[in-house]
Amino acid sequence: MDCRKFVEEQIADIRQTVGDEKVINALSGGVDSSLVTVLGHRALGDRLKTVFVDSALMREGEPQRVVDIFASLDIPVELIDARQEFLSALAGLTDPEEKRQAVTDTFYAKVFSRLVKESGAKFLLHGTILTDIEETVAGIKRQHNILAQLGIDPQAAYGYSVIEPLKTLRKDGVREVCKFLELPAEITRRIPFPGPALATRIVGEVTPQRLETVRTATAIVEEELADSGAFQYLAVLLNDYATGIRDNKREFGQIIVVRCIESTDARTATATELPWDKLNKISERITQINGVNRCLYDLTPKPPATVEYV
Ligand code: XMP
Repeated sequence: MDCRKFVEEQIADIRQTVGDEKVINALSGGVDSSLVTVLGHRALGDRLKTVFVDSALMREGEPQRVVDIFASLDIPVELIDARQEFLSALAGLTDPEEKRQAVTDTFYAKVFSRLVKESGAKFLLHGTILTDIEETVAGIKRQHNILAQLGIDPQAAYGYSVIEPLKTLRKDGVREVCKFLELPAEITRRIPFPGPALATRIVGEVTPQRLETVRTATAIVEEELADSGAFQYLAVLLNDYATGIRDNKREFGQIIVVRCIESTDARTATATELPWDKLNKISERITQINGVNRCLYDLTPKPPATVEYV
């Protein structure tokens, strides 16, 4: 791919589409939304307002870390605390599609609609990539950032138009452009993390306590596997319990699944052959989390499994 040409074309396109209007975008810190943020700021400067929505579903320390990385690139990012809105929307839900829908609705219809109104923006800049569109249209997964391709008119539904500069690229193309733009390695090498965040890694109800458990497990897995070279690694909290023994007492504890995969674009994947020592170490640390007494390693390829559990 000719990265220079891609960047120039997208910047020109954004400028032409937007005219003199204001634009808003939500940064998650993932490689897609990071690239769109940088392209948008190159095209529009301070006519683009970038926000990071703290949905309560992010990883340990993630909101502030993302704001700090972009501050070092001279891109101001406003942190929006929407934790209570997301937690309320998810309370009581266990069906995976209903949970995804609740995150989508809270994000776009509530939080974003409000931010757009407050900022006077007419456009939303979005990091949708080709794989998101293909998988959603094929019904493989309901990607929460797909609107128009599912027949949802964002202008009618939410009051803004959507610009998607990355919709012709797959993940490897996005990384290539990031490298060309010399974005920090912490962004370009960041492992994929889904829009609905830790809600995709909690089977059953999302509660503050269950979020805390999966967040701690995620931090352990990410720390232990940072050097694994794998495409993606994650922790999942199951909705099941198993008997265990702690302090000589039987307890009915929670179960964490560790997933680590090899893939090029997440459309297909196989489990990484991790060294036994590493798996043992992870299991040892994870079962020290309060209330967790089992740790499983998922060997299932995609297909038939997906990467995430929700
Ligand atoms: P699945 O679970 O569908 O995931 O096999 C494939 C890849 O996509 C990520 N993923 C998402 N990314 N919004 C995103 O931006 C989403 O709703 C979403 N769901 C899954 C997942 O982490 C994996 O890399």
